[in-house]
Amino acid sequence: MRTAIVSAMQQELAAVLEILPDEQKQVAGGREFWVGHLHGQEVVAVLSRIGKVAAATTATALVERFGVDRIVFTGVAGGLATGVNRGDVVIADSFLQHDMDASPIFPRYEVPLYGTDSFATQPELTEQLAAAVRRALPGTHVHRGLVVSGDRFVSSSAESRVLQAALPQALAVEMEGAAFAQVCHDYGVPFAAVRTVSDRADDDAHGDFLQFIEQVASRHSAAIVEAFLRP
Ligand code: ADE
Repeated sequence: MRTAIVSAMQQELAAVLEILPDEQKQVAGGREFWVGHLHGQEVVAVLSRIGKVAAATTATALVERFGVDRIVFTGVAGGLATGVNRGDVVIADSFLQHDMDASPIFPRYEVPLYGTDSFATQPELTEQLAAAVRRALPGTHVHRGLVVSGDRFVSSSAESRVLQAALPQALAVEMEGAAFAQVCHDYGVPFAAVRTVSDRADDDAHGDFLQFIEQVASRHSAAIVEAFLRP
């Protein structure tokens, strides 16, 4: 069983790389893939970089080149729904691209030719990830449901309100998850994702995000990954 551990940014993955005892670097598609073990389990850790295209490239390389059996994404997101606050954790049951719009040819948000606007994460893997979060971060407020992705950093209260009104079930917003979910759907590879809320995708998002990724994100990711792979 080979598990991919992915984050978008260095600050989110740094502490995960520190706990891999024997990782070897392999370069593919301009990315560094760290192949090693954690708790005796085979792991491939990689930074996807930011945005849906970078995420899709990374997911495809993980499946085609590294033969991973499952992909787990860990990182940060902006809180959207009421009560999804900084420091909370969001576990995705499904992903939607909030910037997908091929209307009027296809309904708003529908991914053309897939007949759907959202892709589910794998339920068993998601449950394992949720259990790992409970062990790693006891007392943390955990939300579970829809996460939306798009190629924009949402950094104004006005834009956040528009998203909340259009997609009231969306818990949080980020920039990669829906691409991973779609590629994993295409290849039939189980996928799960956890995001710590770094900001509220509002007028304070920029500063909140920068502070959070330096101070909290990596620690959270490493604790969750460690608990997830612990036998
Ligand atoms: N990731 C973390 N915060 C975000 C935001 N406000 N918008 C998009 N992606 C994010």
